[in-house]
Amino acid sequence: MLELRSIPPHPLVAASILSADFGRIAEECRDVLARGADILHVDVMDGHFVPNLTMGADMVKGLRRHFPDTYLDVHLMVERPDLFLDMFAQAGADNFSFHLEVSQPARSDGVSPRQLIQRIHSLGMDAGMVINPPTAPDGLEPFLPDLDMVLMMSVHPGRSGQKFIGDVLAKATWLKQRIGPATRLEIDGGINLDTAPLAAAAGCDVLVTASALFGAGDRTAVIRGLHAAR
Ligand code: DX5
Ligand code: ZN
Repeated sequence: MLELRSIPPHPLVAASILSADFGRIAEECRDVLARGADILHVDVMDGHFVPNLTMGADMVKGLRRHFPDTYLDVHLMVERPDLFLDMFAQAGADNFSFHLEVSQPARSDGVSPRQLIQRIHSLGMDAGMVINPPTAPDGLEPFLPDLDMVLMMSVHPGRSGQKFIGDVLAKATWLKQRIGPATRLEIDGGINLDTAPLAAAAGCDVLVTASALFGAGDRTAVIRGLHAAR
C-alpha cells in the first residue's frame, strides 16, 4: 500500500474512474493499475454541491474488495461531508478529501474543518482539503499542518473532460511554500501530457487524470509521461 506521507520519487498518478467505462469498472481499474497508475481517485458528487450525481461508498467497498492493496483517494464534492465519514471509512477509503467551500458561512452546517480532520484521522483515513479554482488558498492555512493532502481543482468540479485553468498554478506555488514534506499537493482537472509538466513544476506531486488517461489510445504512454513530468 502506498504511504502517502513519504515524498514520492516522481509525481503520483491518481486515475479518476469518472472517465472509466462504468459497465466494466473493475477491468478498467485493473488495466490502469497494471500500466502503472499509483492511486484510484473516486469522485463522489451529491447533486447539490455540484449539479451531478456519481458514486458512493458502495463503489469504494467494491473497489476495496477487488483491489485490496490499492490506495483509494476519495474526493467528496458534497455539501455535508460529515454525514459520510463513517460509511467511507467502513468501505475501505484510504483518504477522505472535503471542500473548504462547504465550511464557509453560506454553507455552514456547524462542523468545522478542524473537527472533520480529527474525525477522519480517528477513523484511520488520511485527511485532505480541496479548493475550487476561484477560492483563495489562505483559508486553508490554519489546517495545513494537520492535512495529509491538499487538493487544488484546476477545473470547476462536476465533470471530467474540461479545459485546464492555468491561473490556479500560482496557488500551487503559494501552498507548496507552506506545506510540510509529509503533505502531498494534488491537482485535479484537465491534467494531460501538456499540462502535467506545468503542475509538477509548480510543486504538485499527485496528478489526477480522468479523460486524458481513460480516453487515451496508449494509456501506458500517458502514465509514463505523467510520471516523468517535472
Ligand atoms: C471533476 C473531478 C475530476 C475529474 C477530472 O469534478 O473532480 O477528478 O474526473 O477529469 P479530467 O481529468 O478529465 O479533467
Ligand atoms: Zn476529483
